[in-house]
Amino acid sequence: MSHIVADARRLARCGYRSESHREELQLIPAHLFQSALGLKDLERFYLQVRQTSEALGEPLSDADATVQSMPEASPAKWHLAHTTWFFEAMVLSRHLKGYKPFDEKFTFLFNSYYETMGARQPRPRRGMVTRPALDEIYAYRAHVDQAVARLLNSRPTRDAAELIELGCHHEQQHQELLLTDILHLFAQNPIRPSYRDPAPASAETAVLPALSFTDFEGGIVEIGHGGAGFAFDSEGPRHRVLTEPFRLATRLVTNAEWMEFIEDSGYTKPLLWLSEGWTKALAEGWSRPLYWETRDGQHWTMTLRGFQTIEPTAPVAHVSYFEADAFATWSGKRLPSEAEWEVAAQSLDVDGNFLDLIRLRPKPASPRKVGVQQMFGDVWEWTRSPFSPYPRFRAVEGAVGEYNGKFMSGQFVLRGGSCATPPGHLRASYRNFFPAHTRWQFAGLRLADDA
Ligand SMILES: [Fe+2]
Repeated sequence: MSHIVADARRLARCGYRSESHREELQLIPAHLFQSALGLKDLERFYLQVRQTSEALGEPLSDADATVQSMPEASPAKWHLAHTTWFFEAMVLSRHLKGYKPFDEKFTFLFNSYYETMGARQPRPRRGMVTRPALDEIYAYRAHVDQAVARLLNSRPTRDAAELIELGCHHEQQHQELLLTDILHLFAQNPIRPSYRDPAPASAETAVLPALSFTDFEGGIVEIGHGGAGFAFDSEGPRHRVLTEPFRLATRLVTNAEWMEFIEDSGYTKPLLWLSEGWTKALAEGWSRPLYWETRDGQHWTMTLRGFQTIEPTAPVAHVSYFEADAFATWSGKRLPSEAEWEVAAQSLDVDGNFLDLIRLRPKPASPRKVGVQQMFGDVWEWTRSPFSPYPRFRAVEGAVGEYNGKFMSGQFVLRGGSCATPPGHLRASYRNFFPAHTRWQFAGLRLADDA
């Protein structure tokens, strides 16, 4: 009882309405979609996220933002609209009295996968939505922003505030997807457009620390989100796991090391590959990471800063789980489990080459740093762990319960964020997930071994 009173006092300080506080706690159990922001901080966070999305859309023409390059990718216009629809459908329609939707048709157009929210435009056909035009999507965003501002100024319930915060983190996820989808789209264009102007390679490309490993003693350790602050439901509950003693590479696998794998016929030796990966690699003709091309004996790659020569010392990116696993086998090592990765990351600052640096490409490891580095930013790191529920996980009831729980089959966990992840979005407990054949994300690998 006393913790409920303390919680109510904390909420009152934050400015949330508290009359039906206990009912709201039941709607969103404590370990799910936690919110720790006061209203002023939430308002600032909302504005910052919304402005960032529009800044990311700024270099794009209406045509750039409309075309869909493959069924898994979405048009930028769809990302800008869908993140707005999330606030409209999940928050405003339920929590702002008298709210009038911008356009009733948008629910069909911009619902992603929420069965509880009704029928929707099929994902592979999102690129057919040439109307509404991009300008209209920005008007839609402004309409929803004004309504969210009204809600935040009217002492929203805790339930509403938590959903707004969830909507902000959801939009940050789509900011990264917008960039990876634009990169995939521009890579299909023979003139190889640059999303941002080309930038010089890192000054640190010439020197790289030798690959070394740090030992961890293992034992019974705790992983998962258990502290204050926001986390997605799939990051909790915090729980115990047993890890055997293990070793983790102090840096990510580089492009130069990947070239050795290619030169040693890594893509044509079936014994290195998982059966499903081998079949996929043969069917799709994989012989190098996605976006790599060879011209006059030199490796080039498509980046958000245009078509560029490959930096040998930069981390390899745009490889699938199947390729990462084959590389690890070729190296005589293995991929880490997500528990091993999290044990190593828990004591580190969440600091790295994220979106705010606008490098938009992974960066070479620093020759000056000692110990494990590049854990956050640069590229998502494939782990050997399937995306499955932690002990005592329960998806919330209702529409937001569809957010993560229903995807817990057939996917692997990636950790650590990338050069396209917004700063502040990551935590040591953060679990990203994709099917094993996925290549268009900023995904690479770090080797692990048994100690
Ligand atoms: Fe979404």
